[in-house]
Amino acid sequence: MEVGMLLPALSFFRLNHSKNGQSEHRAKVMAKGLPEKKPLPGVKSIILVASGKGGVGKTTTAVNLACAMKVIEPDKEIGLLDADVFGPSVPLMMNINGEPMLNDDNLIEPLLNYGVKCMSMGLLVASEAVVWRGLMVMQALDRLTRHVAWGPLDCLVVDTPPGTGDTHLSLAQNLPIDGALVVTTPQSAALQVTKRGVNMFEKLKVPIIGMVENMSYAICTECGKRNYVFGKETKQAAEQMGLEIIESFEVDQNMSDCINSGKPAIYALPDSIHAEKYRQLANKIFKYIANKDDKAEATKN
Ligand SMILES: Nc1ncnc2c1ncn2[C@@H]1O[C@H](COP(=O)(O)OP(=O)(O)OP(=O)(O)O)[C@@H](O)[C@H]1O
Ligand SMILES: [Mg+2]
Repeated sequence: MEVGMLLPALSFFRLNHSKNGQSEHRAKVMAKGLPEKKPLPGVKSIILVASGKGGVGKTTTAVNLACAMKVIEPDKEIGLLDADVFGPSVPLMMNINGEPMLNDDNLIEPLLNYGVKCMSMGLLVASEAVVWRGLMVMQALDRLTRHVAWGPLDCLVVDTPPGTGDTHLSLAQNLPIDGALVVTTPQSAALQVTKRGVNMFEKLKVPIIGMVENMSYAICTECGKRNYVFGKETKQAAEQMGLEIIESFEVDQNMSDCINSGKPAIYALPDSIHAEKYRQLANKIFKYIANKDDKAEATKN
């Protein structure tokens, strides 16, 4: 992305915070200078997995969702983009490593594991810390999206970093995003930050599919009692935000073991309640995408 594209984009975001009509008019004028959303060649739909808050289980959700989509519809092509250039964790969770190859068109070939095409900054730069600045993030994302041979794909699942920053802005302004899944824990601190994320997507006109509540409670291994370690505030917060809680996942040590071993729960523990819920979530996402396609078709006719 060119430097010129970044400045109007950020101005637009700031202007939208302002309440008066004049600013809205200016925002519209500025919006004309925004980069055009261009589809990724061969990619039918794009779903973001996001949350303002860190450590709530975005990557765990994205990884298991992508794998579950492949499991329930093996003929569909599914991709997983790790858009967390600051702290990529998809390579570990999907057990992918090695340097990706360039194809004849000079595009980077995604790495395949569990039937899912994956790409991450963690595969393109060595493990030393990289200090990413705004423009570099944009360029990195451009590389991970438009310089990768993604197609053909029925759905690209995008794991995003915590926060409401350059990455989300860049993705939402450059790609036709079909919807965002918002992941949160029931903790009020997490929900507050999640609300900020939801506001951001509303401003950026990214449809929100619904909320995934993670770490809802922990079950005592001795007595089977549910312990609501992070509270019980998700339902109320979701109602306030006008969102549906699509799925809830309890805290389970097996889940983190799966993450560490690079074998997502959907494969490592296919009979577990978590795996079943991820399959249900995958099913809902397929329905959501199909519904959007039907609506788009109807608008055309
Ligand atoms: N339901 C769960 N039960 C137990 N552990 C979980 C569960 N969900 C996620 N975890 C663990 O919590 C940690 C954080 O999860 P994850 O990396 O998916 O969060 P994140 O939101 O992507 O974090 P970040 O903001 O740093 O990208 C991981 O160690 C993961 O194994
Ligand atoms: Mg993550």
